[in-house]
Amino acid sequence: MEGSGTALLERSIRIVEERMPELAHSFMQVPLSYYRDAEIAERERQLFMTQPRPVVASTEIAAADDYLVRMTMGRSILCTRDIDGKAHVFLNYCRHRGAEPAKGCGNARRHSCPYHGWAYNSKGELVAMPLPDRNATLDYSELGLVELPSEERHGFVWAILTPGLPIDVAAHLGEVDGQLAAQGLETMRYVNSLPLEPISANWKCVAEGVVESLHVPFVHRATFNVDPVSGGERFVSSAAIDMAIYDRFGPHVRYALPTFGREQLDAMRGHRDAGKPVGWQQVVSVWLLSPGVLIANDSYGLDIGLMEPGPTTDTAYFRYGWMGPHVPPEGLPTVEEMAQRAGAAVREDAPVWEGCGRGLALGGHDYALIGRNEKGVQLFHEALAAQTGYAGLRYQ
Ligand code: FES
Ligand SMILES: [Fe+2]
Repeated sequence: MEGSGTALLERSIRIVEERMPELAHSFMQVPLSYYRDAEIAERERQLFMTQPRPVVASTEIAAADDYLVRMTMGRSILCTRDIDGKAHVFLNYCRHRGAEPAKGCGNARRHSCPYHGWAYNSKGELVAMPLPDRNATLDYSELGLVELPSEERHGFVWAILTPGLPIDVAAHLGEVDGQLAAQGLETMRYVNSLPLEPISANWKCVAEGVVESLHVPFVHRATFNVDPVSGGERFVSSAAIDMAIYDRFGPHVRYALPTFGREQLDAMRGHRDAGKPVGWQQVVSVWLLSPGVLIANDSYGLDIGLMEPGPTTDTAYFRYGWMGPHVPPEGLPTVEEMAQRAGAAVREDAPVWEGCGRGLALGGHDYALIGRNEKGVQLFHEALAAQTGYAGLRYQ
């Protein structure tokens, strides 16, 4: 099976043996209008409005009445855990005249609107208001916060930003659901390092930047050369930096990189032949889920990135953090330290992404050229275009 660890190891061994990554059949030409066109951007926004995305880590609202307010797609979202332990996601807009009842994060039984004091509990129910005798005829049960479809899975609360839509995260993830289950995310703790970083570039520039490692020796030399468990040729030889294998699972993309070099091939063949489990110690996996969700093996935990379009075609937002076991393996950095390192890497990426953003928005050339050894970027564009109906990708 393509998604299984053994198949990943087998394919990883093959590319290391052949000293050649899995290549796309052709170069891809992506017209610059793909990054500029408002109508295309609107179709992409629809994906962000109608597909499930992780909005909060389960451990960020671990206890009853924990809450957290988050901005996404221009909306204020209130995430809570109610007294029965169920997570909820609400539009954080008061049913009186629309102010935002909750702020920041913490633990609260009630969220009292700052404008006129209507109060909501962690189930989103309107429970009190000042001068109730003036409103004695109101039915409070009809005036709760608008709840969004949500589901807790893989250590996150996922939500769809459009009220009333059905949500089924496993169905959305398809084959990737089992792959994520094997990561054990629900046993891990999340630490955020970039709450909501504005990026002056089309959101697709950010997505492109997380499904290739060709830029790593240029952009992240200092950060990743200190990788505590780097191993292999990947971080020590720029000739090996594109050594990767690629899969597309419907709208989702995975690229995976062997952590071993030629000198470890015998050991890896032995590992394969013994049928031992395959994990991030042998092959690092990076998923780019639709729409705009990055989940990537990084040392003993995972980078979690959420990219989304900003209000214009040349703006985006990026939220970034790191997830790892409550107790780190002996001798390795803490989850907080790993989160800081991950955030530092994004701060190295951001100026380059913004350069791409200007180039794609203002450049006088016709198309961006995606190499055969950037198959992850090609698969991302193909997966997205298949969903939006965009027909402008060309090959050479
Ligand atoms: S807008 Fe919230 S109480 Fe008036
Ligand atoms: Fe990067």
